[in-house]
Amino acid sequence: MIKHWSASSHTPVLLSEALRALAVQPGGRYVDCTLGSGGHAAAILDHSSPGGQLLGIDADPNAIEATKERLQHYRDSIKLVHDNFVNLQSICIKYDFFPVHGIIFDLGLSSLQLNGNGRGFSFQHDAPLDMRFDTRQKVTAADIVNSTSEARLAHLIRAYGEESHSHRIARLIVEHRPIETTRQLAQLIESAIGRRGRLHPATKTFQALRIAVNHELEHLEAALRQAVDLLGYQGRLVVISYHSLEDRIVKQFMQKEARGCICPPGVPACVCGHTPRLKLINKKVVTPSTAEIDVNPRSRSAKLRAAERIVSQEDSYATTEDHAFLTIARSRGWRRPVLLQKIKMAFLAA
Ligand SMILES: C[S@@+](CC[C@H](N)C(=O)[O-])C[C@H]1O[C@@H](n2cnc3c(N)ncnc32)[C@H](O)[C@@H]1O
Repeated sequence: MIKHWSASSHTPVLLSEALRALAVQPGGRYVDCTLGSGGHAAAILDHSSPGGQLLGIDADPNAIEATKERLQHYRDSIKLVHDNFVNLQSICIKYDFFPVHGIIFDLGLSSLQLNGNGRGFSFQHDAPLDMRFDTRQKVTAADIVNSTSEARLAHLIRAYGEESHSHRIARLIVEHRPIETTRQLAQLIESAIGRRGRLHPATKTFQALRIAVNHELEHLEAALRQAVDLLGYQGRLVVISYHSLEDRIVKQFMQKEARGCICPPGVPACVCGHTPRLKLINKKVVTPSTAEIDVNPRSRSAKLRAAERIVSQEDSYATTEDHAFLTIARSRGWRRPVLLQKIKMAFLAA
């Protein structure tokens, strides 16, 4: 049975840490790329009041609907968009929402999705093997499970689930096809590898299928690249991830963007021309306190990374525009309408 969505039943993870990392300020403009139940969004709106604005994106139409109700109070300050964050740049251009003071990604699933919304994200609830964030998308988890070759299935379960028993699981899946429900699949995996430790044996395979269905890693990489371009000077990028594959992408992306030259070691003189566009905010990754984990066990695997947009002399904004522009931008004047216009022109011309 599909449960009725109540947007307030998801507890936002690392909330105060995220607000601090975003440096939320009154009048600021923010993008929440993973709106979910609007927990982070509501807090950002509270802290950016008066005058704050938020553009919220979610690929799940239920999230948009439920959160619209929750954020009623802020209806004049928000724009909620049902879309994939892989389209971040075009969404912000469409709604004339850039440059921004901060962008947040709180990846993965909301409690509403995990608590059995009939879309098969969790093996705790029996449901059709769907796993699409966006129901407009064609390919479901059942399609992948029932029509992918054994070798490809094993590779996918290994690569996206980091499951060492991937070959055994793939073989059993192929032998028992068609598999239509979460319970069928979870029981099959349990029979393939048995129960060990606290983690349910199906956890890694379900993660792998969800990542594959939603192209999660590719979309994250693409969206991070777009996010940097949308940040104004000293704008903040904050990402909360929940497994090592996501965190590796975020970490490597931020580290690369914070470096100057990225030529391979041994190249005698720089040929890449890469300039830093981000400054890392925290030396170490931020994780939830034991108190938070006690209250919200789902937060236990969360990792928050944050970076700030910097503008260097060689930055694309500066190449065509005069130095006065950069000087004013550096003195935090970039919100002034004339500067905004200039940044938009530079952005659109790039
Ligand atoms: C962990 S929840 C966010 C919870 C939210 N921060 C809150 O406090 O309520 C993640 C949300 O991101 C959405 N999501 C995941 N990948 C997405 C993508 N590529 N594009 C848009 N939304 C995505 C999911 O549908 C889910 O609603």
